[in-house]
Amino acid sequence: PLYQQAKYLKSVPTLNLCPEELKYEVAFAGRSNAGKSSALNVITSQKSLARTSKTPGRTQLINFFTLDEERALVDLPGYGFAKVNVKIKRAWEAGLSEYIEKRPQLKGVVLLMDSRMPPTEIDMTMLEWTKSLELPVHVLLTKSDKLKKGPAKASLLKLRKMLKEEYPHATAQLFSSLKRDGLNEVWLKLDHWFEY
Ligand code: GTP
Ligand code: MG
Repeated sequence: PLYQQAKYLKSVPTLNLCPEELKYEVAFAGRSNAGKSSALNVITSQKSLARTSKTPGRTQLINFFTLDEERALVDLPGYGFAKVNVKIKRAWEAGLSEYIEKRPQLKGVVLLMDSRMPPTEIDMTMLEWTKSLELPVHVLLTKSDKLKKGPAKASLLKLRKMLKEEYPHATAQLFSSLKRDGLNEVWLKLDHWFEY
């Protein structure tokens, strides 16, 4: 129910402009098209809370959606726009790493990966950064409705094995925004990080 109260607060380009009043944040990260906006909308039961924009400039913004006075979901828009020039990409990566590394309010990262594709280089970078920061991660293997049960389970088990061996700060589950599959599992994780 609390997630349905999510309200857009603001979008900022850099860490120093992030709102000061918040105490708990959970950030959503993942390559463009992984299903981030869709997941946020399903999690908050709102059709168009997180808007999708394919404009590369927007990828530099950190979007805040508040749940209450102290808590917010944070959308870190899609990385990996093939068409973005190197300078924009670097600037965005610097902004992202600064937010991840220096935001004490950040309690966890939800990392979205398409269940049909192997983790990207920047997914791996995200796992490395968060590991060294001891920041917990929860991976959503998205669009699980596009896979049959067997292959979906297999890709989850493969990922879990890799996480267990190398990234023990991270957990993983299957997720489908289309079918609303995996919703309870995400909510439980968010409840835990938000200390609800
Ligand atoms: P950017 O905003 O570009 O970073 O992308 P995003 O990660 O926010 O992805 P978005 O939620 O916009 O979804 C990308 C595409 O995948 C859209 O066409 C969605 O309809 C589709 N999609 C998202 N989630 C699912 C899902 O669970 N199942 C299926 N079948 N399609 C999905
Ligand atoms: Mg989006």
